[in-house]
Amino acid sequence: MPFAHITGWGMAVPDHIVTNFDLEKILDTSDQWIVEMTGIRERHIAEKGQTTSTLAVAAAWKALSIAKLKPVDIDLIICSTSTPEYLFPATACLVQDRLGATKAGAFDLSAACSGFIYALNMAAQAIKSGSLKNVLVIGAETLSQFVDWSDRNTCILFGDGAGALVLQAREDPGGVLSAVMHSDGSGADLLSIQAGGSKNPASEETIRAGMHYIHMDGREVFRFATRVMAQATHEVLASSGITLEDVQWIIPHQANFRIIEAAARGLKLPLEKFVINLEHYGNTSTASIPLAICEAAEDGRLQKGDNLVMVGFGAGLTWGALTAQWSGVLEKEQKIRPSYYRFIARMRSFIRRLWLRIEGIIWGRNNS
Ligand code: ACO
Repeated sequence: MPFAHITGWGMAVPDHIVTNFDLEKILDTSDQWIVEMTGIRERHIAEKGQTTSTLAVAAAWKALSIAKLKPVDIDLIICSTSTPEYLFPATACLVQDRLGATKAGAFDLSAACSGFIYALNMAAQAIKSGSLKNVLVIGAETLSQFVDWSDRNTCILFGDGAGALVLQAREDPGGVLSAVMHSDGSGADLLSIQAGGSKNPASEETIRAGMHYIHMDGREVFRFATRVMAQATHEVLASSGITLEDVQWIIPHQANFRIIEAAARGLKLPLEKFVINLEHYGNTSTASIPLAICEAAEDGRLQKGDNLVMVGFGAGLTWGALTAQWSGVLEKEQKIRPSYYRFIARMRSFIRRLWLRIEGIIWGRNNS
């Protein structure tokens, strides 16, 4: 049975930073309140032209470079997101086109902030079953497009960004060890975007009522989160055959510093064991775990052979955890030239679009 190794990683965030002090100017809030209640100091916010797919593509190129894989080597792209560019097509298909990943299947996965854990688990299972070799897993969000910037209860929390991991089949042991996934739809109304779907299609009324924005019962979500983080960690460790003592790093969903503190208390672990970067990014939902992984990999905290636990929770309600052994950078001869592949992907996309039009005209003429 092959193992699913993490062999590439990459992240992308918008350059534009909105600090708590910037929010003080537009809201009845304060830096002190936000830092004390959440731990967040600033967040990156998408500007014109930056979308969920542009961030996802930027993160994906970096991950492919580290994994030394060409876009045509990818068998599947899973894009976990709650802020897709469209209801359909899937954001993963836009990513597929811009990468020129001509042999890849592509779909979006929607499990809110737990989505990256779900997606990584699905990818690892596909690799372990022997059906796929190289899978690109992306967590990408532009939550700034879905928050009401006049609602101090929600807008202070969220930020934009994307993180990507490459999973590769290899014979040597390591990579994703095990995962647990949970859901409880009875808590669906605690955190939701009520309009824009089939129940409440977009209308003047839904827009006037602000139903296209994120609505949240913060206190209940907080209570739920503090309960499940330690629970899911214990559960995934039991299924992976390693103990808490064997774990070098816990990588939690970055929603609120106090939730991470509660998880640390529940697990009786020092906070130093946790990778925490929410101070600079806020809650980037499904992107938050891969962003934390990328930063820890880049600054050398993650070392080959380290055991990691990723653990998260989110709307749905959903929660889950995943254990993995860090594989680090693989020694490989293959040369990768992202700028060349980017150019080829653009040309290919242009020619494909043109060809589809021409085909349409020819087909239309023959059938009229
Ligand atoms: N600035 C100043 N005061 C504020 C702000 C703000 N930005 N926001 C709320 N307040 C006020 C409230 O109006 C309230 O005032 P009142 O007592 O006069 O009515 C007071 O602060 C307390 O408000 P609560 O909402 O009860 O505060 P709470 O202790 O619950 O903290 C928080 C709020 C930080 C949002 C917390 O509930 C939380 O982090 N919850 C979890 C949220 C979360 O993780 N969501 C993401 C889930 S992941 C996903 O799927 C996207």
